[in-house]
Formats: sequence, C-alpha cells, structure tokens
Amino acid sequence: MPLSMPDRPVILTGDRTTGPLHLGHYVGSLQTRVALQSTHRQFLLLADAQALTDHAHDPAKVSRNILEIATDYLAVGIDPEMTTICLQSHLPALADLTLLYMNFVTVARLERNPTIKDEIQARGFGRDIPAGFLCYPVAQAADITAFKATIVPVGDDQAPLIEQTNEIVRRINRQAGTEVLPEARALIPSVGRLPGVDGKAKMSKSQGNAIPLSATADQIRDAVRRMFTDPGHVRAADPGRVEGNVVFTYLDAFDDDPAAVADLKARYVRGGLGDSVVKQRLDDVLQAVVAPIRDRRAAFARDPGHVLEIVRRGTQLARTVTDATLRDVREALGLFALHERRGANA
Ligand code: TRP
Repeated sequence: MPLSMPDRPVILTGDRTTGPLHLGHYVGSLQTRVALQSTHRQFLLLADAQALTDHAHDPAKVSRNILEIATDYLAVGIDPEMTTICLQSHLPALADLTLLYMNFVTVARLERNPTIKDEIQARGFGRDIPAGFLCYPVAQAADITAFKATIVPVGDDQAPLIEQTNEIVRRINRQAGTEVLPEARALIPSVGRLPGVDGKAKMSKSQGNAIPLSATADQIRDAVRRMFTDPGHVRAADPGRVEGNVVFTYLDAFDDDPAAVADLKARYVRGGLGDSVVKQRLDDVLQAVVAPIRDRRAAFARDPGHVLEIVRRGTQLARTVTDATLRDVREALGLFALHERRGANA
C-alpha cells in the first residue's frame, strides 16, 4: 500500500479499547468507514493510550480489547489493504506532539471543553480528575494532526474535540508562520445515536444494554424480547406509541424495507398490533444483519496471529507517516534538530 495517496483526502478516526464494538457502532460509524475506505486514505486508531486516561486501574481490560476491536473492524468489512489499522501507544510521535501541543492550550480551555465536562460528570471524578484525562483532547489533536487528517468521522459528542484540535492547529500554524498542519472537520453520522435495548439514550457495553457484533442468535432473540416498547401498550388491541419505542427505532435503523415499517407503525398506532409481531420482525432483521458479521468475526478470531500481524503492519506504516509529521512540525517551529545538524566544519 502506498504511504500516501495525494489525490485522496485523509480520514482518521479511532476507538478507545475498553470493550468490543456493538450494533450502535455499526449503524453510527462502522458502515461509514467501510463505505469511505475505497475513496479515502483511511487510518483507524486503536486508542489504547486514550483508554488508559480513565482506565489506569484496569490496564488488562485495555490490552485485551485491542485485538477484539481489530477483529470487529475486520468482521464488518474493513479491508487492511485499503485501511490502515494502527495502535496508538506504539506511535511515539503522538506522545511527542501531545507534549508540544500542551504549550498551545490553557488549562482553563481544557476545563471548558463540553465533552470533557460531561465525561467528568459521568465518571464521577469530582475534583479528582486524572491529568491525563483532562489533557486527552490535546492527545486527540495530536492523533488527528499526526496523520494530517482533514476528515474525522465521530459521534456528535466528539465535535468539541475537533474544535479544540483546530484551535491548536491555528496556533501552531501562526507560530510557525506557515500552514504546516491542515484543519479538520468532523463527519457526524446522519442517523441518530442508537439507544440501548432498555430505552436509555445510549447503547453502551458498560450499561449492559448493548448487542455486541459477536452476539449469538439466542442473545439477539433475548435482547429483542427484553426490548423497551411502549409501557402504555398493554393489550394488542390498545393503540401504541412509536416515539421512544426502541423496537421501531431499531427497525428504522436496520430494516431495508421502510414502506413495510411505515405500515407496521400505522397499524401499531391505530391499535390491534401486538408487540410480539413487531419484535418478531425485528428479530428476523437483526439476525440477518449480525449473522454474516458474527461468522466473519469467528473466522478471524480463530487466527489471532493473523489479526496481530495486520495491526503490526498497520502500525509500522502509521509510524512512518506520524514520524514525518513530527519532523515537519518541529522544523516549522524552528526547534533544535540534533541529528539532522551538520557539524560546524562539515
Ligand atoms: N475519543 C474517541 C472515542 O471516544 C477515540 C479517539 C481517539 C479518536 N483518538 C481519536 C476519534 C482521533 C477520532 C480521532 O472513542
């Protein structure tokens, strides 16, 4: 694979390696990544270093999920010949750039970052915020710029991180007096976030309301059976509500026959359609979506050495790219270069 394809825009995105990916990732972002890989120069970052910023107490979990997520990527159709899968902690230029960028952002600005504020609240850090956590937006700016990415596919919750990245980019470029780094834009999926099977706003493994990409037929059936519908819809004859009804939300996301779904919705609202009928359709739809992913996943999981080799090769390639950017930035800022320097008499 060529190092750069100058005619193709560069995409960088990634996932914290804290748990295997699920159907929420699939509709929100994995499908987009598979579609974009043939027209863009795409890098996927296994963000193990970022995962440690709130999992320093559980490094084993962070490590275990590196190959799990790489396997998820391959299972949904990420092709390592087109997309470079790489490991964050093994790209030293990212750490170097982070340290450098820290001087171009204030603590007050980091504390004002809406994503960080929400996450601090959600994690219950109170005043005891790990410094690494507060600074992870700077590290994420390093991730994005090290690949000179201009497109960053992320959920809407990550948009403030792209803002912060571009602020740093502008400061570096102003200091350097040249456009050494490009600005990036967030590519936010048009489909909304998939709720959990319990109806909570977000599907997440830690909430226990997710359907993983490796779900068995029984697990899918069980999740659909437990799925939140309309608590006011007691008997089939009662009129039911479609808004906030997770079964319909999932049908909207996964059923490729929107006319049939619209018809079901109309009958449900009118009354006379039982939850079990709608759930049966969703079960059929999800089984058909997950089965091929699960099968491909199982095939890759049988050969972890192969997955490891893909990550090794991708990381090596990414290293060349990110090392080059670090050199560009250091040179543009006029930082001292011990090795490239000629002796006084040379
Ligand atoms: N913050 C992202 C997440 O929560 C992971 C991530 C790390 C990332 N580095 C990135 C996303 C760079 C986009 C670009 O999953």
